[in-house]
Amino acid sequence: MEKEINGELLQIPEHIAVILDGNGRWAKKRGMPRNYGHLQGAKNVEKICIDAGELGVKYMTVYAFSTENWKRSTEEVSGIMNILRQYLASFKTHARREQLTVRVIGDRSRLADDINQLIDELWDMSKDHQGLTLSIALNYGSRDEITRAVRRIAAEAQDGSLQPEQVNETLLSSYLDTGYMPDPDLLIRTSGELRLSNYLLWQLAYTEFYFTDVFWPDFNRDELIKAIRYYNERDRRYGGV
Ligand code: IPE
Ligand code: IPE
Ligand code: MG
Repeated sequence: MEKEINGELLQIPEHIAVILDGNGRWAKKRGMPRNYGHLQGAKNVEKICIDAGELGVKYMTVYAFSTENWKRSTEEVSGIMNILRQYLASFKTHARREQLTVRVIGDRSRLADDINQLIDELWDMSKDHQGLTLSIALNYGSRDEITRAVRRIAAEAQDGSLQPEQVNETLLSSYLDTGYMPDPDLLIRTSGELRLSNYLLWQLAYTEFYFTDVFWPDFNRDELIKAIRYYNERDRRYGGV
């Protein structure tokens, strides 16, 4: 889809994946606790979803908590989980107003029961909305996701409901947590780190990567447009000539 933004015709990526990084450093710079950065970071996800939806983006997939992030201090982890509780509860109003669909990817078995309940409620009330689909990666790790998918495939092969010859790239993609959406066109990582941190390893095979030094809580509509402009400057080839 093409859209005119500030007099410029831009191709809008259908799916943007985001590694929202730098909340801690953003807070530190202001002499505030890390969890204050997480709170501002969570608020910013709402804002960027509205901006992305208005620009015509269909899917946004944000990395909010990794399988490795449990190794942070108990104080930080419980702070993040509490922000998540507040966030998911308040997101219902938001999702209705903005017509957003909200889903979660990652291993939900390690999340608290009340958080899982909020996730189910949010999905249930938003599944027929027509706007942007926000997927929140929680207790997400790409290797864990692929391992879980392969385990299910192996179990179905063992009980005979799936033949080994049926296993191909399309089938494996459909068994991943992201099976309901196309692969990302653009990946954005904030705060200057140039690594994937175990995010969407399979799905990012042909995605354009955009890195910015801006910390996530400061990433705004203008920064999003910069990323989309960068995406437009790339010559996408998908392995062809
Ligand atoms: C990203 O911000 C959010 C989470 C990983 C939960 P960080 O907390 O990683 O912020 P920095 O990288 O320490 O600045
Ligand atoms: C990646 O950020 C995970 C999330 C954004 C949730 P981290 O800040 O945890 O990644 P590393 O540890 O710097 O690679
Ligand atoms: Mg970080």
